[in-house]
Amino acid sequence: MKTALYPGTFDPITFGHLDIIKRGLKIFDKIIILLAKNSLKNTLFSLDERIFQINKVIKEENLSEKVIVDDFEGLTIDYCKKKNIYFIIRGLRPLVDFEYEFEMAMANREMGNDVETVFILTDQKYFYLRSTLIKDIINYGGEVSDKVPQIIKEELLKKLKKN
Ligand code: COA
Repeated sequence: MKTALYPGTFDPITFGHLDIIKRGLKIFDKIIILLAKNSLKNTLFSLDERIFQINKVIKEENLSEKVIVDDFEGLTIDYCKKKNIYFIIRGLRPLVDFEYEFEMAMANREMGNDVETVFILTDQKYFYLRSTLIKDIINYGGEVSDKVPQIIKEELLKKLKKN
């Protein structure tokens, strides 16, 4: 069985991420979504909130048999070594991602030469998406239904009210 790791912050998960997961499942039998820590980011949603959200979205999309969620404090490559995973999936959007992704893939390769990073091109509908943009749009009363699943929209609105 071919398993791949899809690491990220997912604050929150969007249709862009889901698109990568669905495309990834054409190549891999199983995908582990890893909530990893980007030291440069403070998240809006706690780790538990993001795990809950992703699990709910996976269930609604009928992906539970092939997609699981986990979290890890440490290097993504160390998670791969610990769990014997040899593929990391990353979504690639034009212009914004290449340099950063190239750097990260190279660093991961240097630390774990057995692990291959596989880039999947994002659907053009989601070229410009990023979680920060969605948080901004909802903050200013905009519509995000075409960018995130309904449950994520509800969670964003709940958080907005609370803050
Ligand atoms: N569609 C839409 N949006 C997408 C997307 C897609 N297909 N793929 C990514 N994005 C967005 C994300 O929502 C995110 O938006 P934001 O910056 O507004 O929050 C942004 O693009 C980048 O996201 P992501 O892919 O989640 O990367 P990240 O920088 O948050 O995650 C980690 C990077 C967590 C994978 C990386 O820091 C890591 O591996 N950390 C663990 C420690 C480690 O190993 N460090 C060394 C790495 S070499």
